[in-house]
Amino acid sequence: MTHEARLTATIQRLGHQGDGIADGPLFAPRTLPGETVSGIRDGNQLTDIRIETPSEARVQAPCRHYKSCGGCQLQHAADDFVADWKVGIVQSALSAQGLTADFRPIHTSPPQSRRRATLSVRRTKKGAMAGFHGRASDVITQIPDCQLLSPELIAAIPVAEELAMVGASRKAPLSVTVTLSEVGLDVLVANGKPLDGQLRIDLARIVDAHGLARLSWEDELIGMEQPPTQPSGPAHVCPPPGAFLQATRDGEAALLAAVEEAVGRAKRVVDLFAGCGTFSLPLARNAEVHAVEGERPMLAALDLGWRQAKGLKKVTTETRDLFRNPLLPVDLNPFGEEYDAAVIDPPRAGAEAQSVQLVAAKTPSIAYVSCNPVTFARDAKILVDGGYQLNWVQVVDQFRWSSHTELAASFTYVG
Ligand SMILES: C[S@@+](CC[C@H](N)C(=O)[O-])C[C@H]1O[C@@H](n2cnc3c(N)ncnc32)[C@H](O)[C@@H]1O
Repeated sequence: MTHEARLTATIQRLGHQGDGIADGPLFAPRTLPGETVSGIRDGNQLTDIRIETPSEARVQAPCRHYKSCGGCQLQHAADDFVADWKVGIVQSALSAQGLTADFRPIHTSPPQSRRRATLSVRRTKKGAMAGFHGRASDVITQIPDCQLLSPELIAAIPVAEELAMVGASRKAPLSVTVTLSEVGLDVLVANGKPLDGQLRIDLARIVDAHGLARLSWEDELIGMEQPPTQPSGPAHVCPPPGAFLQATRDGEAALLAAVEEAVGRAKRVVDLFAGCGTFSLPLARNAEVHAVEGERPMLAALDLGWRQAKGLKKVTTETRDLFRNPLLPVDLNPFGEEYDAAVIDPPRAGAEAQSVQLVAAKTPSIAYVSCNPVTFARDAKILVDGGYQLNWVQVVDQFRWSSHTELAASFTYVG
């Protein structure tokens, strides 16, 4: 029997997934810069890791599941360290484009505040078990004391297990996405058995027994006791099942405050990549808003929320692919009356084509919200080269203990 020799390495930095990286590069998960670690090399990964000299930033993970669960990546690091690391990622991305900015202090969502979770649920001999996958593993870790999810989501674990008992195949785990709404749980199931008469009866019983606000099985609505609305300013919006939502209500409020500040006293606002109106509807308290988005059902939800709300100014919607068909200067200055401000919140790919057109239209203020510092910095460079000033950046950590980074930024046209 051969024994691989243990090697010792010093961690130089964290990679974008939150793994420690030593020279090589050699990736060492759950280690921190400055730590001396030992382990066994497996390709470019270090395994069976022992921390020989811990970093001062190393802390006891707050969650007892952290060792086996793959849901979080950075619970072994102090909050201050993670905050500096996330702000540093955005600063480096901007600096790679030759840009600098004033950074507001980071806003971090509290523990137990996630409003949505996708649980994996496997049938077992005795019933079913729900949880998150382990790190790079098929094994499901049960998470009754998870520190990330809202307690109401933890309370939904038995519901997910009941769904698997009636509807999971023997081969694959069920994927159960549970979202908190104003009136109860909104549940979307994927990877289940095909629906038949008996399964429909069993699922309707579960909706009833647990008072689920809505249950969807793949594309089919099984039951809706009440529309599972989300608050959006004075409006209440019922998003399509599984549609994009900001990860925490707290993070959404911080992003909205930043967007409102960047938009200022604008009276006409265009909201690009508007989703179900997270920014459009609260902004409509003070401005007319035109919401543009690629998914028609999301805009239908936004529109209904607006129609049912009181006291909002006019909100119009437009379904449009903003990658292929960005709003042009003629659209951004309709009838010669320009929008005073644009909100732009694209997916990870960013909004290169739309940024070019905002420059051409010289829209006075832009609130840019991004979940990808690299594409944000690329688009910021387009805006700055086109005559915009980058006023400030606010990092919002609504993905606590993960390697994701979210931000809002303010630009004004200075010519
Ligand atoms: C990060 S989400 C933001 C949604 C919304 N602003 C919010 O905060 O809830 C990005 C949105 O862009 C939409 N989207 C993705 N690709 C698009 C495209 N090519 N054209 C228009 N919208 C797109 C998605 O459907 C999604 O609603």
